Amino acid sequence: MRRSKPVLKAVAAVLLAGGICSIAIGAVAGCQNSTNKSKAVATNTNTNRADGLAAWDQVYSVLTHPRCINCHTATNFPQQGDDRHRHFANVVRGPEGKGVAALQCMTCHQESNADSTGVPGGHNWHLAPLSMRWQDDNGNIFSKTQLCQALIDRSKNGNMDAAALLKHHTEEPLVHWAFAPGVGIDGKARTLPPLTHQQLVEATRKWVEAGMPCP
Ligand code: HEC
Ligand code: HEC
Repeated sequence: MRRSKPVLKAVAAVLLAGGICSIAIGAVAGCQNSTNKSKAVATNTNTNRADGLAAWDQVYSVLTHPRCINCHTATNFPQQGDDRHRHFANVVRGPEGKGVAALQCMTCHQESNADSTGVPGGHNWHLAPLSMRWQDDNGNIFSKTQLCQALIDRSKNGNMDAAALLKHHTEEPLVHWAFAPGVGIDGKARTLPPLTHQQLVEATRKWVEAGMPCP
């Protein structure tokens, strides 16, 4: 008994010093492994965040392009053109973003682009609700941080989680329209967002997988 006491003490000391890992056989190796693992996880999280933020930069470059942001206004009306000027004919938002009875969006905007007249078209053409505005009251585009925070706020974004946002970018016809926006009334092709639709979807997927980090 006397002899075993120091041994027990030593074991206890190892247990205390090593914590839970030292209970396992091959304690030292086990502990080193788990330390390495948590270091690897930490580096991964940093890489993830950096990758996620880089992906967000790409997503942001599309969201803030006129083809998208002209419908995500803070005002009572849609915008037109690359200079985001007020929509002609005093077209207004109306109660559901679909215009007012006398001047509904869908009176002019059909299911597809009418290139002969220059009226763009897409399924269920209407303005994004005010909670989904990506501009301030003066028409200044939200910063990378502001827009990111608005986009992930489920009280503003139509209660969309990460999967729903990714699905929206992948499938929504009005998103698709922005990549095939037809020609304007001046007969010139409308300019395109800086990424292809496929690249937008990939960038959104990376951002989502990184946990939707905001700068
Ligand atoms: C013709 C108008 C129109 C255009 C153009 C448009 N959107 Fe939207 N957007 C909407 C409407 C309307 C909604 C609300 C949809 C709903 O409630 O189902 C919306 C919602 C969204 C949302 C939901 C989350 C949020 O907070 O805004 C995202 C994301 C989005 N649009 C991305 C885009 C992107 C990306 C483009 C361009 C590639 C684009 N939109 C172009 C009308 C438009
Ligand atoms: C009287 C017909 C008419 C009505 C009503 C109308 N629009 Fe338009 N809209 C047009 C025409 C025509 C153009 C193209 C103008 C051009 O190419 O310069 C246009 C262009 C746009 C554009 C610009 C696309 C771009 O990126 O440059 C948006 C966005 C838009 N309309 C949204 C709406 C919304 C939302 C409504 C309803 C609230 C609406 N419009 C109602 C005729 C109409």
